[in-house]
Amino acid sequence: MTNPVISATGLWTPPHSISNAELVASYNAWADTWNRENEAEIKSGLMEPKTHSSVEFIEKASGIKSRFVVDKDGVIDPYIMAPRIAERPNEQISLLAEMAVFAARDALKAAGRSAEDVDAVICAASNMQRAYPAMAIEVQQALGIEGFAFDMNVACSSATFGIQTAADFIRAGHAKSVLMVNPEVCSGHLNFTDRDSHFIFGDVATAVLIEAEDIAPADHWKILGTKLKTQFSNNIRNNFGFLNRAAPEGVGAPDKLFIQEGRKVFREVVPMVAEMIGAHMGELGLTAPGLRRIWLHQANANMNRLIASKVLGREATEDESPTVLDTYANTSSAGSIIAFHKHSSDFKPGERGLICSFGAGYSAGTVFVERSR
Ligand code: COA
Repeated sequence: MTNPVISATGLWTPPHSISNAELVASYNAWADTWNRENEAEIKSGLMEPKTHSSVEFIEKASGIKSRFVVDKDGVIDPYIMAPRIAERPNEQISLLAEMAVFAARDALKAAGRSAEDVDAVICAASNMQRAYPAMAIEVQQALGIEGFAFDMNVACSSATFGIQTAADFIRAGHAKSVLMVNPEVCSGHLNFTDRDSHFIFGDVATAVLIEAEDIAPADHWKILGTKLKTQFSNNIRNNFGFLNRAAPEGVGAPDKLFIQEGRKVFREVVPMVAEMIGAHMGELGLTAPGLRRIWLHQANANMNRLIASKVLGREATEDESPTVLDTYANTSSAGSIIAFHKHSSDFKPGERGLICSFGAGYSAGTVFVERSR
């Protein structure tokens, strides 16, 4: 059986960043207008007034200080409160595919690989911009790749599920080189008029090149083991879909965007993930002290602190469990890959780490890796 390895990763970061102060200012201006427009109902007790969001709350509750987005102007305009993303003609590459191609080229360059050497493309992300044709096939065409491509969606866990899928293709001999991309325009599914969640997400694209060890560059990451888990929960949900386009509530209703019971997610996902990491580590004969670093899904800094301390049996340092939340916010499937991409070049041969993602579904994935040389 051929061993799959990670040959390289790639990252594309949008040019615009929104600080918490900018986001809060637009939310508060929107809330003030809403309160003025609904003054009579609020006075008569029929409606609750909207209260202000705060920079201090956001940073303390999540660790997020800013986020990158593909369109800043629309998001921070209190009369729009959404990214304005122009529809493109069918002849033009779609936004998601374009972002994925940027990240993919970064990964291919790092691996010294040309696109023709790749056998398959998996686009693993939370929110595809259309049903079909697959975004992955568009990426395949844009890069000039033979073979096959498809989309898969396991919400925030999509990347680790994508890595295992790619690794399985390689183990089975169906491909030797698989490009797995995670373009995330999270600002498109975020309700910027919901105070509880308006600060959570950002946009980005990442790419991971998974290859057979015998063709991989000498500098690579051995995949020691992968594991996936799902367990149904309604606590993170998005009901947008083509079956509800004519529903009375219509497209645009709050539940057709991201909604969550953040507290429940926190309480239920932390133990689920910590137990899963512990069990997988045991199966592979690994121990926490043997791990140099864990690259966790980037949803919430407090959540990561707790998961890391359950795994290590003590507080983790920033070096052991790095965060990119401060600048990127939650970028869904891409979060743990950004952390890995930005915080792994200092690894020495034989050092080991864990890429771990978790999110809606619930879903979680663990990928233990070891630096080759
Ligand atoms: N500004 C100011 N105050 C706010 C606020 C905002 N933007 N949003 C909420 N608050 C208030 C709430 O109204 C509440 O006030 P109350 O105590 O008077 O009722 C208080 O702050 C605490 O709110 P709560 O929602 O309980 O905060 P929290 O500490 O649980 O943090 C999350 C919220 C969402 C950051 C946190 O629960 C979380 O990260 N959960 C996991 C999320 C996750 O991983 N999701 C996966 C997404 S893929």
